[in-house]
Amino acid sequence: MKNKHNIYILLFLFSILTNSSVTGQWYSNGVVSSADVLTSEVGIKILKEGGNAIDAAVGLGFALAVVYPQAGNIGGGGFFIIHFADGREIAIDFRETAPLRAHRDMYLDSAGNVIENLSTKGNLATAVPGSVAGLLFALEKYGTMKRQDVMKYAIKLAEEGFQVSGRLANSINSHIEDFKMFPGTMKIFGKIFQEGDTLIQTDLANTLKEISEKGRDGFYKGKVADIIVNEMKNTGGLISHKDLQNYKPKERDVLRGTYRGYKIITMPPPSSGGICLIYLLNILEKFNLRQYDLYSAENIHLMTEAMRRVYADRSEHLGDPDFYNVQTDILISKDFAEQSFSDFDTSKATLSDEIKPMKIINEGSNTTHFSIADKHGNLVSATTTINDSYGNKVVVDGAGFFLNNEMDDLSVKPGVPNIFGLLGNEANAIEPGKRPLSSMTPTIVFSPDGKPFLVLGSPGGGRIITTVLHTIIRIIDFNMELEDAVDFQRFHHQWYPDEIQIERETIDGQTQRRLIEMGHNIKNISKFGRVDAIIFSTAGLMKGYSDSRGYGKAIGY
Ligand code: DON
Repeated sequence: MKNKHNIYILLFLFSILTNSSVTGQWYSNGVVSSADVLTSEVGIKILKEGGNAIDAAVGLGFALAVVYPQAGNIGGGGFFIIHFADGREIAIDFRETAPLRAHRDMYLDSAGNVIENLSTKGNLATAVPGSVAGLLFALEKYGTMKRQDVMKYAIKLAEEGFQVSGRLANSINSHIEDFKMFPGTMKIFGKIFQEGDTLIQTDLANTLKEISEKGRDGFYKGKVADIIVNEMKNTGGLISHKDLQNYKPKERDVLRGTYRGYKIITMPPPSSGGICLIYLLNILEKFNLRQYDLYSAENIHLMTEAMRRVYADRSEHLGDPDFYNVQTDILISKDFAEQSFSDFDTSKATLSDEIKPMKIINEGSNTTHFSIADKHGNLVSATTTINDSYGNKVVVDGAGFFLNNEMDDLSVKPGVPNIFGLLGNEANAIEPGKRPLSSMTPTIVFSPDGKPFLVLGSPGGGRIITTVLHTIIRIIDFNMELEDAVDFQRFHHQWYPDEIQIERETIDGQTQRRLIEMGHNIKNISKFGRVDAIIFSTAGLMKGYSDSRGYGKAIGY
């Protein structure tokens, strides 16, 4: 690698600055990495009690709804990618669905203009929650423990309370203005929190108990369903009893790709994440990334040009496969990647205005991530979301949980970006019952000899895909330690806005000048993505790492 030692000097300085360790500890029985220490502890306890990775994932998922209210949820949705010890692989899709009364122009005024905040705040922004159905489906089909035994930890944390960390206190306090509009939210989050305060959530504990006793009927029917539907009636939301009863999680085939001999399994539509990740890797596989420094103008230019093209196709061709005929096989083929990148110029940026989504010739088709590995060889890569931090900002009054604002992930109007600046079109237009297009990319990578290698994923809206991409490339192409691959700075391009978004102003002046000369626009943005990952050694030992951008923790035993 050219200038190899520059990278190591940078990494060394970087690890001093971020306090990241260069090597973590290896374990043989199990590892859990998630966004909060309390939830990782729940996962580990369940594994130690003899539960498998799926039991741990479900218990952890419910606990996130209590201690990580900004994204953990029972009012949202998510995806699981599971690799079983016996080699089977499945995706569980518990993405929210648009209510039956949703319609294409529901966020537009009579002149056809988008009404501000309608698809992001308040109950009209909410799609039918899928998390409870999805978690319980996973547990009943693939877990080994009783519902009551995996849910008791979440119930205890809600009922007896837990100590609020400084990071959570800051996060809640910084949203107080948004919360003021919603009495149910103010009841629980309407004060200024200090580090160490105890947060007790009695309504949420009662809702969790209903679910623990009655299963999915404890949420989609009966008392809790009545509270949700009443809340909707009083606040202009659309979710009805029929919507709740109709909600079904779906088991789907995982999406498969390869990168330099490594095997990738990841999330199919309604996420765009898997298709875009494999499409990006297919483009980059043709290049020797190691001939330049990781953060050189050459590599940033190359990867940006790949991202620009992939996100252009995302905007046009991806949506809920139950409503739109997504040409998955074509989009993840190596040929399509080659064709899409055939106009790449090594010295010059292609303006996004010059890039149009490719024609497909029809030849036939505040989020949080956690990763779990158990001692049997089962792996769970799970990403779940209520979309924005604290979802639509509404705590269902009397039921104690935040609702999602996932409707904003549908295209409210062609050409109008969503909160992540992503564009959409017909494939992702609003339709009753439709799942909004996601970028969540829970992924598992296997080494060329077929052994588990890496379990990972991240929050970050549209930047989830590139966050996962950076981590994989740094480990496979640049031999970086997991901790450094995760912590090192990231950049992102998504076709529009036509700019390379670079984290933390860390790009050096000379590289910046070269990129500008090539025709790129540079924008410095704050940190993005929070990877929670597990890596395996060649001997089959495992270690986890939780991104230093967040305050999570990886625990093993
Ligand atoms: O499904 C999606 O792609 C988005 N709703 C994810 C939102 C997200 O990652 C926010 N967190 N930073």
